[in-house]
Amino acid sequence: MNVPLLDLVAQYRSIKDEVLPAIMAVIERQAFIMGAEVGQLEAAVAALSHTRHAVACASGTDALLLPLKALDLQPGDEVITTPFTFFATAGAIHNAGGTPVFVDIDPATFNIDPAAVEAAVTPRTRGIVAVHLFGQMAVMEALLPIAARHGLALIEDAAQSIGARRKVDGAWRMAGELGTVGTLSFFPSKNLGAYGDAGMMITQDDALAERLRRLRLHGGSREYFHDEVGFNSRLDTLQAAVLLAKLAHLAEWSAARARHAAGYTKAFSGHPDVCPPRTDPANEHIFNQYTLRVPRRDELQAHLKAKHIGNSIYYPLSLHLQPCFAHLGYAKGSLPASEAASAQVISLPVFPELTEAQQQTVIDAVLGFYA
Ligand SMILES: Cc1ncc(COP(=O)(O)O)c(C=O)c1O
Repeated sequence: MNVPLLDLVAQYRSIKDEVLPAIMAVIERQAFIMGAEVGQLEAAVAALSHTRHAVACASGTDALLLPLKALDLQPGDEVITTPFTFFATAGAIHNAGGTPVFVDIDPATFNIDPAAVEAAVTPRTRGIVAVHLFGQMAVMEALLPIAARHGLALIEDAAQSIGARRKVDGAWRMAGELGTVGTLSFFPSKNLGAYGDAGMMITQDDALAERLRRLRLHGGSREYFHDEVGFNSRLDTLQAAVLLAKLAHLAEWSAARARHAAGYTKAFSGHPDVCPPRTDPANEHIFNQYTLRVPRRDELQAHLKAKHIGNSIYYPLSLHLQPCFAHLGYAKGSLPASEAASAQVISLPVFPELTEAQQQTVIDAVLGFYA
């Protein structure tokens, strides 16, 4: 049996009757730029995320770039982040004029280690980009006081974690609710995926929201008048229409992912080699990825590939060791927890439409390899 890593065709079939009329309505109106659906989506995502504002933009990468630009970084200004994430997290810091400073992760959750963040703060530090990796939130209650103490912006890269929550001081807090700004990606493989590129920034800060709205429209609050140099980073109305139709299913899809994750973890727990991902008990994990740690990872990957079972390595090379960041001076061994994760992780199919038979095929293939 073939098991894809992600089956967007199965998802499309299940919502075709909702998504096609939504797309056609935009086409009938020919309102492709900043149409009504963009504002409707912003309001819906702000409500979901418990934020005062949501500002849609062209991608999850731009959702990081615009708030980093709003920090007005000067050459030499530092932004602390994790090396175990998708490249965009650190690429955006560089492209906003900052210097990424990588600190190690908590091996249990793959998320940034707050103690390492604190230890890396210098007089040049301007911000922290924490990533809520694979669908569970970083330790916000530890990061927020560090940011406050040192006067730093705390950007939550929630590209993989829309709708994830964490119990902080006894209350459920949403991804993007507590930081200076939260950033979302609607890349097609995310829990809420568009039919192309799309992203969003969420914040409680009125002035920052206004600045982000300007920055996405060439830096002007009035057409043809520019207060600063910004970007063309609008969200297409067509994508907003798709996302609005899909948003109604997000909770059920994320719950299905969590059910599949629990099924895998039950099957793998106690195994001497296969180490299931750990959910921090304070988190509600939405499992954008289900990521194992295993020995002989590359051999397992080849075994799964031969059996036509989809899988992927997120991420095979820590960002501090990427050739483009060689000038930053990190060496192999500088951030051992992240480097170990890169050598050991493998992500399995956990998409909502995964059938029981498909999941059993994956489980049998993994356990069979280590038998
Ligand atoms: C953690 C993280 N940050 C940023 C991004 C960038 O998002 P996009 O691909 O929408 O530009 C992604 C997704 O690809 C991501 O996973």
